[in-house]
Amino acid sequence: MGLSRIPLAQRLGVERACAGEDPSDWRRCGMANPSSVPWRLSGELPLHLEPDADSSVGALCEGLRENADWLRQSLLQHGAIRFRGFDVRAPDDFERIARCVNPALGKDYLGTSPRDAVTEYVFNASELPDFFPIAQHCEMSFCAQPPSHLFFCALVAPATGSGETPICDFRKVWRDLPEGLRERFLAGGIRHVRNYAAPGKRGDAVQLKSWDEMFQSQDHSIVEQKCRNEGFEPVWLEGDGLRLISTQPVFRTHPLTGEAAWHNHATTFHTTSAVGEYEQIVKLRPTDRHRSVLDMARTLEEQILAKPPDERSMHTTWVDGSEISREELEAVRDVIWQNTVIEPWLEGDVLAIDNFAVSHGRMPYEGPRRIVVCWA
Ligand SMILES: [Fe+2]
Repeated sequence: MGLSRIPLAQRLGVERACAGEDPSDWRRCGMANPSSVPWRLSGELPLHLEPDADSSVGALCEGLRENADWLRQSLLQHGAIRFRGFDVRAPDDFERIARCVNPALGKDYLGTSPRDAVTEYVFNASELPDFFPIAQHCEMSFCAQPPSHLFFCALVAPATGSGETPICDFRKVWRDLPEGLRERFLAGGIRHVRNYAAPGKRGDAVQLKSWDEMFQSQDHSIVEQKCRNEGFEPVWLEGDGLRLISTQPVFRTHPLTGEAAWHNHATTFHTTSAVGEYEQIVKLRPTDRHRSVLDMARTLEEQILAKPPDERSMHTTWVDGSEISREELEAVRDVIWQNTVIEPWLEGDVLAIDNFAVSHGRMPYEGPRRIVVCWA
């Protein structure tokens, strides 16, 4: 049996598990029998969905509309679906598929990665340098209302063994945190500080963009309004820089299933993030390039640690401003990496992610790679 259906039934609170082959079981549970959908299915995280016959985007969209209940339940259960083998060639094809999963695409991006727009709703996933690791995170978890779904598409697949978009079930991470650590995070709470350069300026090597790029405006009052909407405290700095201070939940419960998931940016924004990620990357892929980037990251981290915490490009502390230790974050990182799934991209792949259940990141790469993103 490819799909583990019993946990979903329990999570959704239905009376009886949908484990039988009798189609009435499936209908009662609000699910379509997977054998009735017109695709080949495999895997757990992500669920792989491939064409049986017709690989056109039109046929896929029609199938997704006809099996809307199955799609919704499968994405809730697995947390991510990879559409593979369909004729996806351009950003428009990708956007069509994403809209079949969730039509309410957004375009306000308040994250830290530099992102260029490709269409009104599709963006290059990240313009960060290819060696830069992106730690696992749920998209915009520090915002008041993070996106429900996130979509990626490989328009140009990177070389094998690099540039993947790993994903991780953050529901499992929340459950698997070592004894006492979950309580420590709940008691301490999470506070982020981010410093953005003035329009047209760049800060240090890890300062990612200027505040007007992030807020798409040079008007202080518009920026302040957007900050209020998201719960960020804006502090204007000398030279027109902008500091954002914000607290955020440690975990969130899924709006439909009620399941709790680790849902914060502590392991992404903390000063130790780059070194912590590269130590894991070197364990997995011990290449000379990765080792030398790790050395570079350690040197850079020493320089950053010499700065006062609130003046760093980004950093995370407990809510009272005291430091979260490297060891506490390492323990979280270990659980995340134990649950992380790394699959190679194939050209035309589309990955749909439930942003309240599953996180994403990026492995370093060299050479061509073009991954685009949209969210809803
Ligand atoms: Fe992201």
